[in-house]
Amino acid sequence: MQNILITGGAGFIGSNFIKHVLDNTNCNVVNFDKLTYAGNLENLVDVEFNDRYRFVKGDICDKEDVLKAVKEYGIDTIVNFAAESHVDRSILGAKEFINTNVGGTLTLLEVLKEQGLSKYLQVSTDEVYGSLPEDRPEIKFTEQTPITTNSPYSASKASADLLCNAFRHTFGLPILITRCSNNYGPYQFPEKLIPLMIAKALGGEELPVYGDGKNVRDWLYVDDHCSAILAVLEKSRDGEVYNVGGNNEWYNIDIVKLILKKLGRPESMIKYVKDRPGHDRRYAIDSSKIMNELGWKPAHVFEDGIELTINWYVENENWWKKVMSGEYLKYFEQNYSAKMH
Ligand code: NAD
Ligand code: TYD
Repeated sequence: MQNILITGGAGFIGSNFIKHVLDNTNCNVVNFDKLTYAGNLENLVDVEFNDRYRFVKGDICDKEDVLKAVKEYGIDTIVNFAAESHVDRSILGAKEFINTNVGGTLTLLEVLKEQGLSKYLQVSTDEVYGSLPEDRPEIKFTEQTPITTNSPYSASKASADLLCNAFRHTFGLPILITRCSNNYGPYQFPEKLIPLMIAKALGGEELPVYGDGKNVRDWLYVDDHCSAILAVLEKSRDGEVYNVGGNNEWYNIDIVKLILKKLGRPESMIKYVKDRPGHDRRYAIDSSKIMNELGWKPAHVFEDGIELTINWYVENENWWKKVMSGEYLKYFEQNYSAKMH
């Protein structure tokens, strides 16, 4: 692994991963990103002049774009973060999710096959396993849990995983898959729960909690997801699937209350709003495979990670305020106007 194409590198996890790779390896990195509403090159200002970093504006659905970058930079490894990633947006319209998450993955797999690259890692999600029962805390998602998707987003990610399996099985390609739980940390687009609630609390606005607030998510600090992906790239046999999680389940409402407490704001700012249609009740990951086989473990406990994250948003108000203008506002109106009344 010397020259890595990181797709979706201008997004939340991709930009954190690029910095993680530059800090922890000698590899050269090409950030290949279409710069959709979620892509932001400001996430990478710290590294834009690094000799081992290049940015290429391109679309994973466009084979010519991908081939050009692969040839020009002598790419041997692809890590695919590029995706439409927000469940609520997939409910408002699924087409772009199918185009990018399924069609784009297919394009990358074709390039992998035709160019004989040495490694491909698909960044997938625990959401492909569907929802867990609330009253059976001992049950978690393992790599053997059947794929059961409930949202257009998770259906598109699962379809991509199935394509990866098919290309590995049929053509013997070197394909790896990671399935991680919910990430949080710096540079997360403020449409996702934690940064949205921090931004609302700081801005003195109501905090919209879906349904009864008792949905459960298993939160992992973004840099720990990055170290897991790097461990899989460096140490795994081809063809493996690894779950990645923080063993850190929280009710949404408790996260929201914690954010308010840390920011010194009152709980009266919480507004329970109409639930997300088809809202998965509980996600929880069993990470024992990656821990036992590759020796990975998270470096951050939640109490520290959430503190780091809240402080980052407090100190980088400029970043999220800019992000929240324009296109994002239109989406916000569309998603929440029906829920708030
Ligand atoms: P994000 O929405 O912040 O970033 C996605 C990036 O992909 C953006 O930079 C966007 O411009 C780019 N992109 C979108 N369509 C593209 C295309 N057609 N061609 C090239 N680039 C394109 O997403 P994220 O939260 O950083 O998630 C990254 C990946 O990790 C996704 O595949 C997601 O499914 C997966 N994942 C996310 C989480 C999470 O909690 N955020 C958890 C597990 C897995
Ligand atoms: P989200 O960050 O969208 O991640 P995902 O749906 O992929 O897990 O949402 C996390 C949880 O927070 C999920 O149960 C939905 C809930 N939620 C709210 O209650 N209010 C909100 O405004 C948002 C965006 C999410």
